[in-house]
Amino acid sequence: MARSRKLAAWSMMLVGFFGWIAPSPTPAFQASATSPRRPFQDLWIPPTMEGTSFDLTLSPSSQSFWNGATTRTYGYNGAGFWGPTLILEQGSTVQMKVKNAIDEPTTVHWHGLHLPASTDGGPHQMIEPGATWSPSFRVMNQAGTYWYHPHPHETTQKQLTYGAGGLILIRDPIEAKLALPRNYGVDDIPLVLTSRRFYTNDQFSFEGDNDKYGDYLLVNGTLDARVKLPSQFVRLRILNAEIERGYILGFKDNRTFHVIATDGGLIDAPLPVQRVRLMVGERVEILVDLGGEKPGSGLDLMAYHSNQPFGFPGGEPGTTRPNGSLLNNIDFRVLRINVADPTPNPITTLPRTLTKNRYWTDADVTNRRTIKITAGQPGSTFSFDNVSYTTHAKSQVVELGAVEEWTIVNNNVFGHSFHIHDVQFNIVKRSRGAVADFERGWKDSVYVPRGQSVSFIARFDDFASETDPFMYHCHMANHEDGGLMGQFVVKDPKASGKSTAQAIEFRPRQDHPVSADKAREATRRVGTIAPDFQEKDLDGRPIVLASLAREKPVVLFFIEPRCPCSKDASPYFDRLRAEYGDACTIVGVIDADPELARTWTKQVDVHFPIIADPDQKLIRTYAAEGSTFTTLIQPGGTIAKTYPGYGSAMLSDLADSIARLGGVESRIIDLAGAPATLVSGCPFPTR
Ligand code: C2O
Ligand code: CU
Repeated sequence: MARSRKLAAWSMMLVGFFGWIAPSPTPAFQASATSPRRPFQDLWIPPTMEGTSFDLTLSPSSQSFWNGATTRTYGYNGAGFWGPTLILEQGSTVQMKVKNAIDEPTTVHWHGLHLPASTDGGPHQMIEPGATWSPSFRVMNQAGTYWYHPHPHETTQKQLTYGAGGLILIRDPIEAKLALPRNYGVDDIPLVLTSRRFYTNDQFSFEGDNDKYGDYLLVNGTLDARVKLPSQFVRLRILNAEIERGYILGFKDNRTFHVIATDGGLIDAPLPVQRVRLMVGERVEILVDLGGEKPGSGLDLMAYHSNQPFGFPGGEPGTTRPNGSLLNNIDFRVLRINVADPTPNPITTLPRTLTKNRYWTDADVTNRRTIKITAGQPGSTFSFDNVSYTTHAKSQVVELGAVEEWTIVNNNVFGHSFHIHDVQFNIVKRSRGAVADFERGWKDSVYVPRGQSVSFIARFDDFASETDPFMYHCHMANHEDGGLMGQFVVKDPKASGKSTAQAIEFRPRQDHPVSADKAREATRRVGTIAPDFQEKDLDGRPIVLASLAREKPVVLFFIEPRCPCSKDASPYFDRLRAEYGDACTIVGVIDADPELARTWTKQVDVHFPIIADPDQKLIRTYAAEGSTFTTLIQPGGTIAKTYPGYGSAMLSDLADSIARLGGVESRIIDLAGAPATLVSGCPFPTR
């Protein structure tokens, strides 16, 4: 009732002032229809892939969510929305091949899986357009419901919105022995919940935080989904694949059903419940007894979201962006179940027990840490411990084999869904109220309500790396993209001598042409005396401009450590150094503290001396903020040339100029891969 009133009000407003691509709670299929009801559509069951080698290709695709509409989407392996279900056997070693056929970088993260960080598919394992990423790993998790999805920093929400994602089902001998529904698509049904908002031209409305909530529920990409299920025990594997919306699920007749698995696999015994809460990223497997239902009868799986306390994602009243939607703060149908005849070998009883888990306790804990959800820095709403992921991300360091208790403190304004890579944990404490029965099991994502904290324990086994971090973040993709993310490295204390690397997040590559202002500013200094400085490189050797520039040309290469252009330009400067040897001096100046500078240098693998300039003193002196920028100083100390950005013509001009000023023969520098046009000026906020 309440909902249809809202709809009516909206339709009237729409007629008034929205244009053809207006963000609309009422896309074409309904705006034109006088009939208030859309027909049910049969639930799409994603196809499965099995074995030990999996080829996934993400490409632009399209989907018809309702009759007569075509929405542009992304899909794996030709799917219109959401990808195939991968079925993995515990203990097997799998070879993945992920091809990126969309026109921007992506990654594929195996959510919930315990594997080496280099194969994890987080924002550090970027796959460029046209490229293929081929990680291989052993399947170590317990039988359960996991998933894969893109994880590129700052564009995860977009790629998820367009439909990139898929389920992973792991099978193992313990689960295989149980009398559970296991016939995929028949009595074992995947349900991937997410909602979208559409423009009136039938395309997804995607405007970041404005579209955190969709207006229309999609189950496996099906709008108004219905499914035929046999009259016996059925298993529903439910994933909350939303951007931000949480779910409180139950059946319209308030029947009791049984939870059998959480994020990381089976719980000890079926748990009777009438409602279960599922936040973004979480999975639950439930058994529903349809044995007592007459074939032909119907049953609705519902979301009960009316009257939630503030901070419940999707509980905000209102139907419009940025914080409202047609599905907010109401109870709505998730799935219509039509009961059909039982199958030949139906499951008709509930197992008494499922498995035996040994969860971590206080006595196991070897280290504790606290992570606070705080306000974000400019441009981001939330951050962990006051550092948005977009700024220098310092890694948490966890010792290999440690059993750690993490306490996530949320004194901020809203609820969040905290997710950690690498491990499955058990929740041991909530600051308000008990840990819910349905979340007592292995978990990788946990709801942290507003004004509360949650503690969990995990063991960080098997995989240590000095260079490859794992991520932790809020799984609400808009929060994650906005910087509510952090990283940790697992450090092997026995890996002698080496310091723990602090991994750097390189931003996705973007085209950012040199602005006219930057170019003017750069040339203005040519012919003036280069400001002198006395600094030290990362090894403590003195770098004094006046003495370096006395007889030889000096190249100052300014580096923005989070910028992919700086990273890409660096090898060419290393080649200049190698080719010209003593005939000139190449010096890097990096906007970073010495620790970050050292890690960057190691990751990018360059060998010219580098000055850490964390307060940008030198960088500002040379007007090189936030940019890949180069100053060429001639013998005697006058600025001969400045180059805002880098590119093949710029690099060969630089090589020739060095030769001329140094009085040596011009060397040929290998410029393979250098951009044809000048690239520079990453639009990062300069501090
Ligand atoms: Cu489901 Cu870090 O991700
Ligand atoms: Cu969040």
